[in-house]
Amino acid sequence: MKQQPCYILAIESSCDDTAAAILRNDEVLSNIIATQDVHKQYGGVVPELASRAHQQNIIPVVDQALKEAGVSKSELSAIAYTRGPGLLGSLLVGTSFAKSMSMGLDIPLIDVNHMQAHLLAHFIKDEHPTPTFPFLGVTVSGGHTQLVLVKDYFEFELIGTTLDDAIGEAFDKCGKILGLGYPAGPIIDKLAKTGNSKAFSFPVPKVPGLNLSYSGFKTNVINFIHKNMQKDAGFIDANLNDLCASIQYTLIEIIFQKIEKAVDQYQVSKVVLGGGVSANSGLRSKLETTAVQKGWNVYLPPFAYTTDNAAMIGIVGYLKHQKEDFGSLKEAASARLKF
Ligand code: KG4
Ligand code: ZN
Repeated sequence: MKQQPCYILAIESSCDDTAAAILRNDEVLSNIIATQDVHKQYGGVVPELASRAHQQNIIPVVDQALKEAGVSKSELSAIAYTRGPGLLGSLLVGTSFAKSMSMGLDIPLIDVNHMQAHLLAHFIKDEHPTPTFPFLGVTVSGGHTQLVLVKDYFEFELIGTTLDDAIGEAFDKCGKILGLGYPAGPIIDKLAKTGNSKAFSFPVPKVPGLNLSYSGFKTNVINFIHKNMQKDAGFIDANLNDLCASIQYTLIEIIFQKIEKAVDQYQVSKVVLGGGVSANSGLRSKLETTAVQKGWNVYLPPFAYTTDNAAMIGIVGYLKHQKEDFGSLKEAASARLKF
């Protein structure tokens, strides 16, 4: 007997993107994201404004996802939503919406861990290769920087993490001091392409084991810029591309040294990247070059699934649906949700 397709509506609202997607099994039919421009003027996400914008965006975004996929509400098999980690006020909007819809349609609710989703996005069916287990997962985003040993779909072991700032946060804060817009990560990436990464040198902090740190580096950059601007008010303008290239080089070096160490320590040769910073061209090319030199298999996500999106929540929803691993209406959103 032919199996009925499984249609998942996925909702993501953990930070400042309101997103909804429809999946038919492991295939993405629509993937809609409303980015909240309101935060640009503040140079970072303002949690209260993020929750309000989610409230405004969620219904039109879900509506568009259904329309674009050509799927009606009555065809949905389950609702998957981001339970955490993230900003609590933002998570509450998606969680309440998902619960209400699952109750109204009388279909299962599936809770999803946002950090697992960044890595499991690689199991979305498209032309990209899919990793096999075990692999080293590297999640690099605005809120997290983690090294994870992934032994199976839902067997995640955290083996290293930042002790302070996340890599994306460091990109954004360095960009802010350079007078770039928010988020600065993609702008630094673009400007770095025509800069000299050896023009300025910043030390890589020494942190034991597989943990890492970005806050000392960020302070070094801020002090360095202040000192040079006092001597020459045109310093940033005259050196912008070289500054971006040198900053990006060190930000990548900090995580890259830990990736190499984790590969050696855990004897895994598959490295799977996820999170907003996995869009960075410098990090991608460094990993691709190393893969050739050292015989690693590196999996880089398609650009649509790097920054926050609901398709990645949907694939986890589908994988959990297959196991009938459903959530409950009583489950609360959790800002610090662990694996
Ligand atoms: O995963 P994400 O969308 O949200 C969080 O869960 O945090 O990641 C957003 C982060 C921001 O810090 C942004 O500056 C960074 O990803 N980012 C980049 C690039 N594209 C996005 N950083 C460096 N280079 C990029 N091309
Ligand atoms: Zn994220």
